[in-house]
Amino acid sequence: MNDAEQTVSVARPSQYAKTIEASKRIRWDIDKDVIRGRDFDFSKKFLPDGLARLDQLDFLSEPDKRLLSQIQGRTYANLFGLVERFINAKVLEVGRDHWLGDQVALEALVRFSDEELKHQKLFRILEQMMAAGMPFGYTFVPEPDGVAGFVLGKSTWSVLALTCHIELFTQKHYRESIDADENLSALWKDVFLFHWKEESQHAILDELEWIREDAKLTPQARDQAVTDLIELVGAVDAILQMQSAADAAYFTAIGGHTLSDANQARVKDALLKAYRWQYIVSGVQEPHFGKTLGSLITPAQGERIAQALAPVLQHVSAH
Ligand SMILES: [Fe+2]
Ligand SMILES: [Fe+2]
Repeated sequence: MNDAEQTVSVARPSQYAKTIEASKRIRWDIDKDVIRGRDFDFSKKFLPDGLARLDQLDFLSEPDKRLLSQIQGRTYANLFGLVERFINAKVLEVGRDHWLGDQVALEALVRFSDEELKHQKLFRILEQMMAAGMPFGYTFVPEPDGVAGFVLGKSTWSVLALTCHIELFTQKHYRESIDADENLSALWKDVFLFHWKEESQHAILDELEWIREDAKLTPQARDQAVTDLIELVGAVDAILQMQSAADAAYFTAIGGHTLSDANQARVKDALLKAYRWQYIVSGVQEPHFGKTLGSLITPAQGERIAQALAPVLQHVSAH
């Protein structure tokens, strides 16, 4: 074993151990810490402006913008419940490599899995609470087990890359929510806070597992994994296109205004931009994600990914 290998084998368990220590220290309970007997206040926004991105819809009243932020919050809860389905399955799968051997790594991944199961439960409860307070007609289009089946059919490297990106953007979403905005729902602020606390450990573990998986691949297998990652991002984008159309239709049906066809199209476009920002671009632009991805792939593979992302990035930054 050379010096570099020795450093990795010594450092890796200590990073797993650190996540266990942090996970125990910040462990929270859905009822006692997050919900605390509160209900949603529908006179407040659910998602912060930096995520909801509704400033281009200048023809909407403030109550209608608030309603759109609430619809986005409902979709946020459902989409997180969806991605956590495949994330948890993949974590359990890669944990198999640690069944025998590094029991600290195994414990860290078992805790990760337990936390994602709790998060899914939290988001299911939030969906029920929001459904009770909003008019009938909201639809969450994608089906979590069907999506997870598709995602888990791709290479482990690509699923861990997508997962690392998701866990990193939850940290950015938390930062967006901490501004002193009195028009933001206190319960939603706490959802961002408590979710971020546990996701911080997950992002570290994803990266450790992603790099461990990367070391197993031949250059050809890694090139295929890059193709898989591009296809996974495409699948995420297809989900965002379907859901933004469904959310725009729901808003048009229940909002306070009768919208012209042109303004209905603008609402739909603004939702797609917001969702692409929330679930793709805010993660891709996290410097740490770019640094890790860049350390694993060739410049040509980086160029393939950049080309695939270009239309989404252009759409999100267009006015
Ligand atoms: Fe989570
Ligand atoms: Fe997570």
